[in-house]
Amino acid sequence: MHKNELTAYFTEDTVTALLAWYRANRRALPWRETTDPYRIWLSEIMLQQTRVEAVKPYYARFLEAAPTVADLAALDEARLMKLWEGLGYYSRARNLQKAARIVVEQYGGRMPDSYENLLKLPGIGEYTAGAIASIAFGICVPAVDGNVLRVLSRVAGSYEDIAEQATKSAFRDALAEVVPTDAGDFTQAMIELGATVCVPNGEARCGVCPMVSVCEAKRRGLTDELPVRAAKKARRIEKKTVLLIRDGDRTALHKRPDKGLLAGLYELPNTEGHLGEDEVLSYIRSIGFEPLRLARLEDAKHIFTHIEWHMIAYDVRITPEFDGYHGASGMLLVPNDEMRESFAIPSAFSAYTKYL
Ligand code: ADE
Repeated sequence: MHKNELTAYFTEDTVTALLAWYRANRRALPWRETTDPYRIWLSEIMLQQTRVEAVKPYYARFLEAAPTVADLAALDEARLMKLWEGLGYYSRARNLQKAARIVVEQYGGRMPDSYENLLKLPGIGEYTAGAIASIAFGICVPAVDGNVLRVLSRVAGSYEDIAEQATKSAFRDALAEVVPTDAGDFTQAMIELGATVCVPNGEARCGVCPMVSVCEAKRRGLTDELPVRAAKKARRIEKKTVLLIRDGDRTALHKRPDKGLLAGLYELPNTEGHLGEDEVLSYIRSIGFEPLRLARLEDAKHIFTHIEWHMIAYDVRITPEFDGYHGASGMLLVPNDEMRESFAIPSAFSAYTKYL
């Protein structure tokens, strides 16, 4: 993709048709009813790895708890994690808060209104900076996410691998040449086209597409072939044994390390590998608990971006004499209602937290 390669496709007429299509067909979404850059930022971060329908209730709840950047900056960690519980990729929430604190300290609580300054904030990359700058501030910059890459690959009939950073950058630079003055609607129109019309898996709805008359993929019958995305590396598989360690109504929780996967979150205690019953009993004793009964629970899998957890699990009843903070293991014994209310347990454990 060369710098001016998209100008042949995004003529004044096609851009007009695209914007008209968007205005007539856009879904009514909560973040489309605001020009508040903080709200648009939050929506874009939530939408990065999560479907629109799943985001809606989180978005509403988050904004009730933190209606302004300053409120987000001031949230305590447990509350922040609780608001994000179930969305996954918790570093998104931590970066949001880091950035909010910078916005409060360096910009007096107002989101920076330039692409370059947005890009400097933690968790804001080229796509998100472009989306906020164009949608909230009307700045003529492009925002290229997976949806937009698919549309552009098809429109231009490009076989370049969209998993490559070089391809993304080239598409971004080419799209920058054609962003109209109505940059916000243009960004949203491209995203909406990719999400609702120019969809993957052989289901493209070319019959209703405002760009069909210029689309190379359509003309050459390549819609199902494009875009090209090189196969991802296989995920690493990790075997784990998850333990519901509990007395009457309390369950043991363990805080994960501050770095790495699910950093700083509370989890159900677990060990590497698949342990047999005897191994579980000696492990429980080795961390200073006294087991009473043991029952195997069902197996479960959880898929992260680069890792898969293959879990087996045991329900372990222990004697009830231990303190809430259990020094020998560093674990907390937390009453189940308090856990539901105040602790954000990653959804990787949802096959087992349902018992609590
Ligand atoms: N996906 C990413 N950004 C979006 C937006 N603003 N609206 C709908 N879906 C999106």
